[in-house]
Amino acid sequence: MKIAVIYASTTGNTEAMANAVSDAAKASGAEVIFGTADKADKAAVLSCDILLLGSPAMGDEVLEDTMEEFFASIEKSIGSKKVAVFGSYDWGDGQWLRDWADRIKAAGAVLAAEPFMVNLTPADSDLEKCKEWTATAIK
Ligand SMILES: Cc1cc2nc3c(=O)[nH]c(=O)nc-3n(C[C@H](O)[C@H](O)[C@H](O)COP(=O)(O)O)c2cc1C
Repeated sequence: MKIAVIYASTTGNTEAMANAVSDAAKASGAEVIFGTADKADKAAVLSCDILLLGSPAMGDEVLEDTMEEFFASIEKSIGSKKVAVFGSYDWGDGQWLRDWADRIKAAGAVLAAEPFMVNLTPADSDLEKCKEWTATAIK
């Protein structure tokens, strides 16, 4: 199984989540492609069976710019994949992740797990939850 863990992060919060997600994906024995959205290799990501994508809430409940650009570039090509999304936020209620999940379903992909969000900097307990969430998403 090949899993892509691709994220964007402006102050390291979603990055910390992405590291925990990647660790859990690797622990499952899967081959993992890991990196940031601004440098992601589209073809390599689309060679994966499962995409775990992370972005903080930015703007007014939208994806961070580099993730928006990357996701838009693969959006029409993810119909055969399992996809799940995660990210850090501050004052919102998760609208950016719900909208992202809707785009994934509209693209014909399977939403592999409910969107997973952490308020600001993940605590150790949040990072454990990231790992549990990953195990569910890649089952
Ligand atoms: C320009 C800007 C826009 C933001 N917009 C939102 C928002 O719409 N909703 C929200 O809950 N948090 C918002 N935040 C807070 C970030 O999502 C939060 O600080 C998050 O932890 C950043 O994660 P990161 O370190 O992975 O970038 C915003 C922060 C900035 C700097």
